[in-house]
Amino acid sequence: MRSSHPERDVMTLPSWARAREKLIVALDLPRVDDALRTATALHGLVGGVKVGSELFTAAGPAIVRELVEKGCQVFLDLKFHDIPNTVRAAAREAAHLGVAILDVHAAGGRKMMEAAVEGARQGSAGQPVPLVLAVTVLTSLNAADLQEIGIDGLPESAVVRLARLAKEAGLDGVVASAREIAAIRAACGDQFVIAVPGIRPSRHDPGDQSRTATPGEAIRNGASLLVVGRPITGAADPRAAALAIIEEMELAGRASQP
Ligand code: C5P
Repeated sequence: MRSSHPERDVMTLPSWARAREKLIVALDLPRVDDALRTATALHGLVGGVKVGSELFTAAGPAIVRELVEKGCQVFLDLKFHDIPNTVRAAAREAAHLGVAILDVHAAGGRKMMEAAVEGARQGSAGQPVPLVLAVTVLTSLNAADLQEIGIDGLPESAVVRLARLAKEAGLDGVVASAREIAAIRAACGDQFVIAVPGIRPSRHDPGDQSRTATPGEAIRNGASLLVVGRPITGAADPRAAALAIIEEMELAGRASQP
């Protein structure tokens, strides 16, 4: 199997991706100063930050470079979905920026995913190769939404099908909801990285998310990484909100230890 980590065990998560370091905060903010203030407030507390379409479109690669220079582990979440040549080049540029994780849409197909892995390797130039993850089915979509775009059946079936394909294409893992973790683990093994967005602490507004879970449920189900945006960035005190989520993760982690 090809891997984006020829020089080390592909199945070993980076050291930051453990316990509280499994928490990645989505900096879905349009203003650079707000994003940097939030990243600074959370530095040392969480495992990493995620730069997605909103912040990247507003601030460009400069914000990614700045976060990397500050010592942040950056997940560049631009969900590439294009022809293989374009995705290879985009993944190469992302790796050049020094990100720890990048992602593509699994629906782009095997060749596109293989090209993403090649690009990530090419761009890392001696530095650690970023983890390459595949988005399976967006956590905002439910079965009715999928049917509208021609995918029948439960989201879980589509997620597992796409996760298997991602693994075959040499990707390090997938982005999926907490509800599908057990099925993905059964299909792709214990070491496959599963990054889980759609996290909502109890009594929190789901917003546009559909397949949600609490931080504790995601950890108990076996998530490798939790991606949390609005419950932290929309809080009056993001650091306190992150700490509350970390406490819930640690409790769930301890409780599910054999
Ligand atoms: O604010 P919230 O916690 O819903 O943010 C979730 C983040 O995870 C967003 O940045 C969103 O783009 C991202 N994401 C997602 N579902 C996926 C992949 C990524 O919600 N399948």
